[in-house]
Amino acid sequence: MRLYINVDHVATIRQARRTNEPDPVRTAVLVELAGAHGITVHLREDRRHIQERDVRLLMETCRTGVNLEVAIEEEVLSLAEELQPMQVTLVPERREEVTTEGGLALTEPEVQDRVGQGVDRLRTAGLRVSLFVDPSPPALEVASSLEAHAIELHTGEYANARSHESKGRELARLAEAARLGRELNLAVHAGHGLTYENVLPVAAIPQIEELNIGHSVVSRAIFTGMEEAVSEMLELIRDARRAVTEPGRWIPPVGF
Ligand code: PXP
Repeated sequence: MRLYINVDHVATIRQARRTNEPDPVRTAVLVELAGAHGITVHLREDRRHIQERDVRLLMETCRTGVNLEVAIEEEVLSLAEELQPMQVTLVPERREEVTTEGGLALTEPEVQDRVGQGVDRLRTAGLRVSLFVDPSPPALEVASSLEAHAIELHTGEYANARSHESKGRELARLAEAARLGRELNLAVHAGHGLTYENVLPVAAIPQIEELNIGHSVVSRAIFTGMEEAVSEMLELIRDARRAVTEPGRWIPPVGF
């Protein structure tokens, strides 16, 4: 299980003053020193947090790997082709949203076409492509037919579920989608809205090999420092994986 830390919100604080601190590029060094497996950034069309400069510098300085999240737009796709990050995750993007609100609507023919063209283009450039999708079987079938390397399951509905029952239901959808994803030969990632309180059951889904976590870790880092915040998240994930590799040893609380 790899943990990628999304450092967008370090840039959010910087952009609040349009100054040069805190710097997500410097943050990435601490994230790596704490043992995370990679750095995720979302270069949004409106450049509300991460800037092109950040992506260019991260590509030069990261010792792990950069997972670049982008919409299917010419400017960012050609930047990905030029910079060759370790992975590109295609995400839907709407200017008015506070954060990414759901997976790619892959069952809509127009979206399917656009995503298909994006995947082809990035694959031709030699890039590994992941698609951010809701945990729904039809979306996964399309992702597989478009020949994406990986899917990132949107965990937002799980994270937002309030009752024990709905949380359990969303967790079951994630587990089923992860199983289907592997069956379709897709690498399975997950992310969005994961926190120290809700990560355990998701990290214990055996087919999931990568988590992308941002807001909760950056929030904790304000109190504890980045290295401590990343280490604590890594420790939780390791606990959850022990439940997978050593059944009966430890069971994460279902639903929370
Ligand atoms: N994965 C994707 C595709 C995202 O868009 C985001 C948010 O930028 C994340 C993961 C991380 O979500 P969070 O900041 O809620 O941990």
